[in-house]
Amino acid sequence: MRNIKIFDTTLRDGEQAPKCGMHLSEKIEMARALERLKVDVIEAGFAICSKGDFESVQTIAGAIKDCQVASLARCVKADIDSAYEAVKAAVAPRIHVFLATSPIHMQYKLKMSEERVLETVKEMVSYAKSKVSDIEFSAEDATRSEPEFLVKVIKTAIAAGAKTINIPDTVGYITPGEMGELIRYLKSSVPELDGVDLSVHCHNDLGMAVANSLAAVAAGATQVECTLNGIGERAGNAALEEIVMCIDTRREMFNARTRIQTNEIYRASKLLYNILGIQVPLNKPIVGVNAFAHEAGIHQHGVIANRLTYEIMTPESIGLPSNRMAFGKHSGRHAVEKRLEELGYKLSQEELNEFFESFKALADKKKVINDSDLEALLKHKAAPFKEQEYRLDRFTINSGNYVTSNAVVRLISGDETFEEVAIGDGPVDAAFKAIDKIVKVVPHSLDDYYIQSVTEGNDALGEVVVKIKTADGVVTGRGLSTDIIEASILAYINGLNKLLAY
Ligand code: KIV
Ligand code: ZN
Repeated sequence: MRNIKIFDTTLRDGEQAPKCGMHLSEKIEMARALERLKVDVIEAGFAICSKGDFESVQTIAGAIKDCQVASLARCVKADIDSAYEAVKAAVAPRIHVFLATSPIHMQYKLKMSEERVLETVKEMVSYAKSKVSDIEFSAEDATRSEPEFLVKVIKTAIAAGAKTINIPDTVGYITPGEMGELIRYLKSSVPELDGVDLSVHCHNDLGMAVANSLAAVAAGATQVECTLNGIGERAGNAALEEIVMCIDTRREMFNARTRIQTNEIYRASKLLYNILGIQVPLNKPIVGVNAFAHEAGIHQHGVIANRLTYEIMTPESIGLPSNRMAFGKHSGRHAVEKRLEELGYKLSQEELNEFFESFKALADKKKVINDSDLEALLKHKAAPFKEQEYRLDRFTINSGNYVTSNAVVRLISGDETFEEVAIGDGPVDAAFKAIDKIVKVVPHSLDDYYIQSVTEGNDALGEVVVKIKTADGVVTGRGLSTDIIEASILAYINGLNKLLAY
């Protein structure tokens, strides 16, 4: 069986998409989830891009032990220097250099002739190679490049020391048949590819990123670049979970495998959706809420008789716990601890003590606590408050269809208590305005607000996600409560505390 390397670019190509920005602590949490998944390479960012990008690549390079860590760099010395400084502490550092090779990019964007592109590839791959031994070269817009020129570029990059050659479908233009043909053509035209990884990086503009990536694997590619949940530029990148589960489910057909721990997929995917504050689409393959739900009677009947009638993979194989369980205020600590373990969460004794406190507080308000509640509580577990942070003490709201909504909010920070009152366009707006009078941070505005119930029923937990925009980007705040106004206030304070910390 061939081993297919999974190169994850959630923290680079994924993170650069609108509304997918993450902050340092979130990126580190995500990188650790990718390490548990056992991706081969984590592309942690584009180090030259900003101070924040450099810092996150460097921190991830220092923290991750079981994956290679890469930084992207243009074919420019300053980019390569910055990428090197950011990844050099990694157990296995990689510099990923790229240059466009299609006629349209060379003429209009780079304003470079073919000869100049070849010289630059030679010069810059050699320069990167003088810094670290593992160099990947990407021919940006490869699928719209002249195949004969692409061959010259690849030969040049390999001669200069590249160990991985990546073929990006930058604009999501190719189709699976063409991709298979291109990979076969490159393999037969470039014997130097023997011993070098041939990789693909597909965008999803026409909804074919996964199909194109798999066509490349079938034709001989040995690395696939992808992102969790398929996030990425425009329509996104090829989704990691779909590629991995397809190779796993159709192992014999591909005669290939990956080293991914598939039973970590559900948890990693959920973590990303939570960090971004996005709901999991109902019908998303592999990780969607309905991906393993059998609704039609005839299907249910078949599955009961034999799961294989309608199930090509099991929920357990992606780490989705099968038998749902319900807890309540009489549930013991051990039962809760065991269930958390079954759901894939191993807490320290101290974390468990804290968790059990919030579990009991919720059990006082809510009769039945199920897996989704447990996961929501975990996600919102109160991080120890830092000195300068604010937390909610109490609030009062007066609202109705004949009165102007007004809110009184009292917050605590350190030893001090602050109280403010404000009117607003509805109770949430009034509460946020009162909070803004207390918490003085950089100019900001509310960019987005979502509310969803974690489970069904009148006493369901409400989860609110707010996106707060500043000149430097967007932060995500989250709040959880059986009261949706309280959840909104908690989310807003959570976001503002993040701004204070940054
Ligand atoms: O889509 C693309 O071409 C890229 C490269 C930088 C690999 O993201
Ligand atoms: Zn890309």
